[in-house]
Amino acid sequence: MNFYELLLFVLPAYIANAVPVVLGGGAKLDFNKNFIDGKRWLGDGKTIRGFASGILAGVITGLVLSLIAGNLFLPDLSFEQKIIVSFLLGLGAMLGDSFGSFMKRRFSIKPGESIFLLDQLSFVIFALALSSLYYVRLASEINSDLILFLLGFTYVVHLSANQFAHRIKLKKVPW
Ligand code: CTP
Ligand code: MG
Repeated sequence: MNFYELLLFVLPAYIANAVPVVLGGGAKLDFNKNFIDGKRWLGDGKTIRGFASGILAGVITGLVLSLIAGNLFLPDLSFEQKIIVSFLLGLGAMLGDSFGSFMKRRFSIKPGESIFLLDQLSFVIFALALSSLYYVRLASEINSDLILFLLGFTYVVHLSANQFAHRIKLKKVPW
């Protein structure tokens, strides 16, 4: 896998992570419940609709990629397998995003405030980990250089995307 193929591979996770900002809202993912430390499990920034819309966005992204770029997006997999991997990328992104919130609440960091690296990277790390359980060839297709490049790239894209979302008034804070 070269860097472009890796970017195409993680695109469902990127889209999954972005869509809840627009489609999220309503009932909270943690049902407003507190953890044993008396602080919220996840907080008001994580909603059920946001979580579900992220997974769906991942699947739709994978579907579109399979249809328009099937020989670049996971060329060795069948259509059905591509969709399963896309689902796992979306689910992994949402789990990673929620894990980031969980850790932030433990350190008393409010929704909207940021923890360096955790906030920007947990979604992509979880997405890679979960999808590799099914797409086991991933481990032999990538190496540490590719992963480091992806993490650096994701960090920069995440910050730029959030700044843009702030500028068009989708997000209250520019990170
Ligand atoms: N969002 C959502 N459901 C999710 C994830 C995100 O509804 N599962 C929406 C929320 O409106 C949230 C916004 O997307 O405020 C931005 O997401 P994010 O930056 O991940 O959340 P924060 O508000 O910063 O909260 P936290 O500190 O818990 O990450
Ligand atoms: Mg945030």
